[in-house]
Amino acid sequence: MTTLTERAPAVRGLALTAEKLTLGYGRAPVLRGLDLAIRPGEVLAVAGASGSGKSTLLRALAGLLRPAAGRVLADGVEVAATSAERAMVFQDDGLLPWRTVRRNVELPLVLRKVPRAERRAAAASWLARVGLTESAGLLPRELSGGMRQRVQLARALAGAPRAVLMDEPFGALDPQTRAGMQRLLRGVLRETRATVVFVTHDVDEALLLGDRVAVIGGGALRTVIEVGEEDDDLRARVLKEL
Ligand SMILES: Nc1ncnc2c1ncn2[C@@H]1O[C@H](COP(=O)(O)OP(=O)(O)O)[C@@H](O)[C@H]1O
Ligand SMILES: [Mg+2]
Repeated sequence: MTTLTERAPAVRGLALTAEKLTLGYGRAPVLRGLDLAIRPGEVLAVAGASGSGKSTLLRALAGLLRPAAGRVLADGVEVAATSAERAMVFQDDGLLPWRTVRRNVELPLVLRKVPRAERRAAAASWLARVGLTESAGLLPRELSGGMRQRVQLARALAGAPRAVLMDEPFGALDPQTRAGMQRLLRGVLRETRATVVFVTHDVDEALLLGDRVAVIGGGALRTVIEVGEEDDDLRARVLKEL
């Protein structure tokens, strides 16, 4: 029998597509006919001014919000609800306060009825990767903000999702902790083939973590920039669109 941890590297990233996506919360839609094709296995950073609809787009990709018009596709299949295939990571952690670190990380596996021993092994492996082996028995309130975000990351990845949707996960961290988390995430993302959509309002973070940077504004996609190694003007090109 293969274990989840052995299977995890074989995960294939989802292709996520927004087609003429229109949605909002009241009369005036936040997104108006947005088209975006996210490649399987890429890290797409989504940048945009505050209020431009980054979180709205992410919730639509997750299946938390239904489009008023247009649609979201995952591997060509219309997204109609949330799915364990598409894991969300939020800015404020959403860990269950009464469960230990280890049991928080095991949660997606419990929900999928993965046997206990396999669950334990997968949680231990991800906790090691985010440097929290020693903290496995602690409760969320006993952790720093950066540690809680690492638990959230481990929890999201332990479920071997095919897409990870991250909404400004480091937005509440102090700059030093944030820089450490960015380094960690870059390393961890190299080990997973999941598609990652990473929302940030920080252009430098977008360029550091993204294979591509999508800039949204005015309810639509403004531009998508490939993050090559040689282009010195990337930052200016993103800032121009914000
Ligand atoms: N639950 C909600 N109810 C009503 N309006 C909302 C809600 N969430 C967001 N909005 C509005 O939708 C717009 C886009 O919000 P959001 O997607 O959160 O932007 P961003 O994440 O880019 O800052 C904003 O004008 C915001 O006020
Ligand atoms: Mg937001």
